[in-house]
Amino acid sequence: MKILVVGSGGREHAIIWKLRQNPKITEIHCAPGNGGIADMAECVPIKATDIPALVDYAEQQRFGLVVVAPDDPLYMGLVDALQQKGIRAFGPTAAGARLEGSKVYAKHLMKKYGIPTARYEVFSHYDAACAYVKTCPMPTVVKADGLALGKGVIICQTVKEAQAALDDIMQKRVFGDAGSRVVIEEYMTGPEVSVLAFCDGKTILPMASAQDHKRAYDNDQGPNTGGMGAFSPSPKYTDAVRAEVEEKIIRRTLDALKREGEEFKGVLYFGLMLTGDGPKVLEYNARFGDPEAQAVLPRMKNDLLDMMDAVIDGRLHEVTLEWDERSAVCVVLASGGYPGSYPKGLPISGLEQVKDAIVFHAGTARQTGGYVTAGGRVLGVTAMGKDIAEARLKAYSEAEKISFEGMHYRRDIGVK
Ligand code: AMP
Ligand code: GLY
Repeated sequence: MKILVVGSGGREHAIIWKLRQNPKITEIHCAPGNGGIADMAECVPIKATDIPALVDYAEQQRFGLVVVAPDDPLYMGLVDALQQKGIRAFGPTAAGARLEGSKVYAKHLMKKYGIPTARYEVFSHYDAACAYVKTCPMPTVVKADGLALGKGVIICQTVKEAQAALDDIMQKRVFGDAGSRVVIEEYMTGPEVSVLAFCDGKTILPMASAQDHKRAYDNDQGPNTGGMGAFSPSPKYTDAVRAEVEEKIIRRTLDALKREGEEFKGVLYFGLMLTGDGPKVLEYNARFGDPEAQAVLPRMKNDLLDMMDAVIDGRLHEVTLEWDERSAVCVVLASGGYPGSYPKGLPISGLEQVKDAIVFHAGTARQTGGYVTAGGRVLGVTAMGKDIAEARLKAYSEAEKISFEGMHYRRDIGVK
């Protein structure tokens, strides 16, 4: 069988690495892929958001399955467009992807069905939003409604900051139409946990928990990033927390979607905060998280193609997920300057010395003589160990073998 994976980051590399373990898969293509992915898949230079070109390519190549990994093409309706041509696709339709693509939609759904989340108000007029923030306790959280490359959430310490955020989002439209509406919500505190779940519209199967590290520097300092590392499982996600999350959040979300007539098929990601008042939803994503996928997939014993088939064919009720008991830690190696601007094309050395970890490529390109940097997040180094501490030691001792000019990474992944 021939498969196309859409996307180009560490998550897509992890998905392809995992799919490769299935001997039925004879050929994997990736659009557009990256330097490391090119070692295990045929990379084609089609952008993940070029829906017509992807559909044409899929038709022409007769893929048995197209896996759509990133948020934008899902929200733009790539899965719908593939299905219309009779091409089998993994991922939610555009309607399903609204859980991630519209924070207003997600918040209203949670409120309507009693799914615990931060209290909020929605505004489509700048003046009304500005007036409202004057009445909010600080800090408060301002969120652009739509997709904003992970940058649409602004935590504001003062009314002035909140008004500046509203000005950026609603007036200056720094995130484009994503800022035509905003959610202003209560600031919550507590540890964060990511729970990804396979969902076939009728059954939802949560995967092992994980934790992301969004800030650029140690001790959660510095600007937000796409994610500087992850580990799985999260020790904070105890059996008691899990039971509460499964009952009040995961099952309720599935019921809510069913009652709304929404058949969500794909991976549903619950971004949770464990507050003093119980676990609450920070956000939904309609896909595998990145870097969470790089820590979770290496622990999954089930075959990934079987899981995707079970989702598409509505057979998840027949499946039990099984996990490697060991823990996984993924350390992201980033370009100097990331998450701001950074240089590209710098040679990467030491990759061949890594023995006891998997190196997922996030932003690399292949050149004669080796790999060069080609993105902000360059590599994800995932190691396994009997516990988080052991996995962390291994991940760092392997990561230290790799270098490129300006490389930086957090030293505290999995410490907390
Ligand atoms: P999101 O893109 O919605 O996950 O938001 C990015 C990050 O902002 C989250 O991982 C949290 O750390 C933080 N955040 C979002 N919403 C809130 C909130 N209501 N209270 C506190 N922190 C939040
Ligand atoms: N790691 C968070 C995300 O994938 O959005």
